[in-house]
Amino acid sequence: MAAAGIAVSVTMGVMKPVLEKLAILMGDKYKKIKGLRKEVNFLREELSAMNDLLEKMDAADKLDPQAKSWRKDIIDMSYDIEDCIDHFMDRVGEAEARDKLGILQKASNCLKTFKDRYRIANQIKKIKTRVIQTSQRRDRYKLDVCISSTTTVDVDPRLSAIYKDSTTLVGIDTQKEELIRLVMDEEQRLKVVSIVGFGGLGKTTLANEVYREVGAQFSCKAFVSISQKPDVTRLLNSVLSQLELPQYSNVYDMDLINHIRKHLADKRYFIIIDDLWDVEPWGTISCVFVTNNQHSRVLITTRNENVAKACSSGYRCIHNMQPLSEEDSRKLFLTRIFGSEDDFPSQFIDISNEILKKCAGLPLAIITVASMLACQPRVLVKQWEKLRNSLATSSPENFSWANMMHILDLSYKSLPHHLKACFLYLGTYPEDHQISKVDLVRQWVAENFVNKPPGQDIWDVAESYFNELVNRSMIQPIYDYISVVSHCKVHDMMLDLISIRCKEDNFISVVHDSRAMAEPSQYLVRRLSVNLRNIEGKIPVALSSGLSHVRCIAMFRTSGWLPPLLDFKFLRVLCIECWMAQTIDLTGICELSLLRYLKVAGDPVILPNKIQRLQHLETLELHSLRSHVPSDIVELPHLSHLILPTGTVLPEGIGKVKLLHTLKEFCVLTSSSESIEGLGELTNLEELRIHNSVGLPRTPRWIAALNSSLGKLSNLKILYVKYSIDGHFCADALSSCAYPPFSKLGELNLSGLTFSRVPRWLGDLCSLRLLLLGVKKILQEDVDMIGTRLPSLVRLGLRIPAFQTDRVVIAGSTGFRVLKFFSLDCDGMSWLTFEAGAMPKLGEIQLELDPGKWDVAVPAGLEHLCSLQKIELLIMRFRRLEEENAAVVQVKSMFQDAVNAHLNRPALQFYQGWPRFKELREDGTSVENELLALN
Ligand SMILES: *[C@@H]1O[C@H](CO)[C@@H](O)[C@H](O)[C@H]1NC(C)=O
Ligand SMILES: *[C@@H]1O[C@H](CO)[C@@H](O)[C@H](O)[C@H]1NC(C)=O
Ligand SMILES: *[C@@H]1O[C@H](CO)[C@@H](O)[C@H](O)[C@H]1NC(C)=O
Ligand SMILES: *[C@@H]1O[C@H](CO)[C@@H](O)[C@H](O)[C@H]1NC(C)=O
Repeated sequence: MAAAGIAVSVTMGVMKPVLEKLAILMGDKYKKIKGLRKEVNFLREELSAMNDLLEKMDAADKLDPQAKSWRKDIIDMSYDIEDCIDHFMDRVGEAEARDKLGILQKASNCLKTFKDRYRIANQIKKIKTRVIQTSQRRDRYKLDVCISSTTTVDVDPRLSAIYKDSTTLVGIDTQKEELIRLVMDEEQRLKVVSIVGFGGLGKTTLANEVYREVGAQFSCKAFVSISQKPDVTRLLNSVLSQLELPQYSNVYDMDLINHIRKHLADKRYFIIIDDLWDVEPWGTISCVFVTNNQHSRVLITTRNENVAKACSSGYRCIHNMQPLSEEDSRKLFLTRIFGSEDDFPSQFIDISNEILKKCAGLPLAIITVASMLACQPRVLVKQWEKLRNSLATSSPENFSWANMMHILDLSYKSLPHHLKACFLYLGTYPEDHQISKVDLVRQWVAENFVNKPPGQDIWDVAESYFNELVNRSMIQPIYDYISVVSHCKVHDMMLDLISIRCKEDNFISVVHDSRAMAEPSQYLVRRLSVNLRNIEGKIPVALSSGLSHVRCIAMFRTSGWLPPLLDFKFLRVLCIECWMAQTIDLTGICELSLLRYLKVAGDPVILPNKIQRLQHLETLELHSLRSHVPSDIVELPHLSHLILPTGTVLPEGIGKVKLLHTLKEFCVLTSSSESIEGLGELTNLEELRIHNSVGLPRTPRWIAALNSSLGKLSNLKILYVKYSIDGHFCADALSSCAYPPFSKLGELNLSGLTFSRVPRWLGDLCSLRLLLLGVKKILQEDVDMIGTRLPSLVRLGLRIPAFQTDRVVIAGSTGFRVLKFFSLDCDGMSWLTFEAGAMPKLGEIQLELDPGKWDVAVPAGLEHLCSLQKIELLIMRFRRLEEENAAVVQVKSMFQDAVNAHLNRPALQFYQGWPRFKELREDGTSVENELLALN
């Protein structure tokens, strides 16, 4: 590869792509263009030298203003150079494509390319002048910085102890108990309790823990976060959605408040308002809280004592968040670094005490510092000393915002160069946003932040960047339903740091309200994050003029303003995740020929009929049901992730998109046999979601086609076959399909299909974490196979539509060592027995049964499930109400007895719903599963 010769650890992710592209311009393809080589070579040498200096600057403690401004100019210049090269290459590419067309056209193209050549020569001349000037400035100011060098795919398992298992959350127990006492006292009237304390003390964590522990005792509850720029409408809508009430987008706050009040009027509610900054929004929010005599509670967290005083029901209802004790601080610190507190080398005792003193008992500070140390290749006292010296002296009394920022900034500086741009990119997301890992990874790749070493998959590399940021505690992991980190959050203070850095380097411009958009700047906007909350936004003229070279636009929340997208010729990333008051018209999108990432979650969206000109497009993600897909997406050579809403009709020829990694959803009903067979060509596929719906013959031919294509997809990690109705559908043709075995498969959801017997090949899927399956009967040997041969299984779901007669015993020796969640949809329960030691990690069981067919039994030995915390029962409805009521009472009482006999007293929750698979409505339409809480 042409780019391999370059030193690639580069500042800000800006210089790297430029240097790479200059290298490509040196290649054979561009030889013919006169004079190009010499100029390009000159640029390369100059820019490489500047880049070295930039890297040093990154690590420097302080830069003087001249150096800072020089740096900003270089970055700005690099963007322009990259835009220019990309544009040029694109034109050459197009001209080449056209050249293949015929002689007549060739003649006219010559002229065009000649013009292009002339233009590029001209532009390079200009760039050269700029480069020379910048380089002279460097020499004039003697900007050489003298700096000591700093340090240096999975997520560190030690972290899950800190973020996930509440039992190990260090030092929170006493405070949690205190707070629970405060919240759960006898007082009948509504009570508002606040947690007050400094940022980074763990207020949110504490509130979360209380919510988890006592939430189930309230009949309705909600947990909402406010941000520094409070948006009361969004907040009210968030409360509505958590109370499972309809949301409204175009009404007055007062109406929302009335809806909520009406719902809460006679209920026992528990609402947490996290991170309230100001007294002002409280005036509106507090209107929601009906004063009733139902023991209702509101809990707020805040950094501001005045807010706490203004909101709480009296002085006794204020909990001052305490820093961690010395002992707990040490425990947290050492657990993060060594995995346990006991087992660490003694020469670290003194130095760790010194470091901890400087962290003043703040969990955020401790975790950040500890992660910095944990991520060093070797544990050396010397490095610890160095870190100690760079921390400011402080004590719990005088620990300040500046101290915390200093610590966070140190950890930012200690990031390897390739991670810095990725980290700052998080600034495009709003506060408290749950940021999806896959989205982020795709955006990083589109932005060219990811270095692809030869022979490695770029998406894997990007994912390991994400994991590394988690390892370094720069982002907080969020674990999904199979205990995999799927999302992350950025701590408020970390986001403060990101904002400061983004401003300094003109990395991202964030727009929070339409007035602020007009702020003039000497620099062009390179990335724009629009984070509005109003639908009446005016088009900000002043801003538009600075947008001509914007390369990334991300839009969140609500906006009435759609930027004039089609003017942005240099756009690489377009992500619209906001509620828009208008149709998103993208018919002209082909003009944005550099586009690599397109995600539109708004609705409706209009796309052009053809998008073949988007030759660089890697990700296309649409959520609008009403948009149609351009017929030529299968011609996009770089398309790697295609995400379309359920029911979308795909054009023929999907098998041509060889680089495809993600395909969802593929609809069988609307695809030809050729298309289904074409799936087999997509050997890079890692995630495949297939959808099917009513109206198919019972023994369809497609299953044979699917069988033959699936067998070729050996890179699959996720496979879902979604079947919207009629689970009796027989899937035995798939029983023989898994050769070669999917050794990487982690998630397999076949719950919509029913096999006669558990397929033998399941036993070879040794990486499975999730398995959902329909099967007519299950034997002891099947359960033994699943339990013992799938050592990573976290979630297991079985649907057994027929009457199960064979008995099954799950014992300590049956495996299932890490299984946490088990769901069973089966009317009989008497065939199942748990023995001592069974499923030692199982925390949650979900059972689905039809009381009309139930064998009036509870699975035997539930008391042996030693980690069980929750049983969820989904009871099917049936037509005659009196019968139903009687049956429900019986189900409830039998399960209540089982729960009472269990040492943990697991929570028992009942839902009532219509069967998902078991029946069709008379008119043949599908029955959506409506759940109704029964409690
Ligand atoms: C994260 O930390 C774990 C444990 O130290 C290590 O195995 C893993 O390779 C790290 N991952 C990355 C991407 O740095
Ligand atoms: C904070 O307190 C420590 C120890 O009490 C002291 O050494 C340090 O100078 C103080 N820092 C500031 C900024 O006052
Ligand atoms: C598995 O697929 C079924 C539909 O076939 C769906 O209802 C269910 O939610 C899926 N399970 C998970 C964990 O995604
Ligand atoms: C399914 O595919 C496998 C090869 O992948 C083949 O051996 C088997 O016969 C096929 N089964 C059916 C029923 O088509």
